[in-house]
Amino acid sequence: MYGLQGRTAIVTGAAHGIGRAIAMRLAAEGCDIGIFDRDQKAAEASATAIRTTGRKVTLVAGDVSLKEDVRRGIGALMSELGSIDILVNNAGICRIGSLLDMKDEDWTSTFGVNVDGLFHVSRAVVPQMIACRSGSVVNIASWMGKSAVAEYGAYCASKFAVVALTQAMSAEVGEFGVRVNAVAPGLIVNTKMRDESEIDRQRQGLATAADRAKSIPLRRPGVPNDIANAVAFLASDQAGYITGETIGITGGLWND
Ligand SMILES: NC(=O)c1ccc[n+]([C@@H]2O[C@H](COP(=O)([O-])OP(=O)(O)OC[C@H]3O[C@@H](n4cnc5c(N)ncnc54)[C@H](O)[C@@H]3O)[C@@H](O)[C@H]2O)c1
Repeated sequence: MYGLQGRTAIVTGAAHGIGRAIAMRLAAEGCDIGIFDRDQKAAEASATAIRTTGRKVTLVAGDVSLKEDVRRGIGALMSELGSIDILVNNAGICRIGSLLDMKDEDWTSTFGVNVDGLFHVSRAVVPQMIACRSGSVVNIASWMGKSAVAEYGAYCASKFAVVALTQAMSAEVGEFGVRVNAVAPGLIVNTKMRDESEIDRQRQGLATAADRAKSIPLRRPGVPNDIANAVAFLASDQAGYITGETIGITGGLWND
């Protein structure tokens, strides 16, 4: 346990996969949780599961890429939960396709969700953290935000941007007691994104997750709880002298 009892966290994209595991883990640590996700039905299922921990859970349906949705939705969560100690920018999408052939809308939506979304949500929450002189932001980047590969150009560029925004924001808000870090997951299974990616990869004749996992030093793919454990640590005071970092959670050095 990381001493998060009584804190309040907003997790974007907590309806599925990694975000849901993070929200569950922070609730198990004793945090009240605000969920912001565009999939209302699945978010309600997450909220029901999280409530079994005994913590308060509030959810708002909305799209992180839309500034007005974020203003309204994050505003509603903050009114309901009070001041926010932890923000996890997790909502993200992945579109596979070569830079020369991909559809314009896939490029635009990737940046809209992965980059604009993080920008809008952070600007809605961090000023209140600054006013409280305390807070921790954890952004979900990717190993592809450190090393770019073919067929994922838009996604890689968006996740490089997440790493850059993490560094820049940490430099801007550190003097006010607010820390900003990121985690860079590797190949994580049991998520909606992974299931959808696998279908796309099969269609394009690319290696499956099971095959790719064979080259991971720890010889297994990651699971959402591997990421949730690191997020709980970074959110806590035990990471009190860590800011501006992007921590890889990949099972080891990994060449895809
Ligand atoms: N699964 C992996 O292997 C992997 C690897 C590296 C990084 N990541 C990152 O981890 C994060 C979570 O991925 P996941 O695998 O759990 O995916 P997922 O598809 O299972 O979950 C993503 C969540 O984000 C929500 N979401 C998507 N677009 C949104 C929008 N515009 N507004 C609000 N909510 C939105 C979805 O409804 C969903 O609940 C993403 O940022 C992803 O890029 C995943």
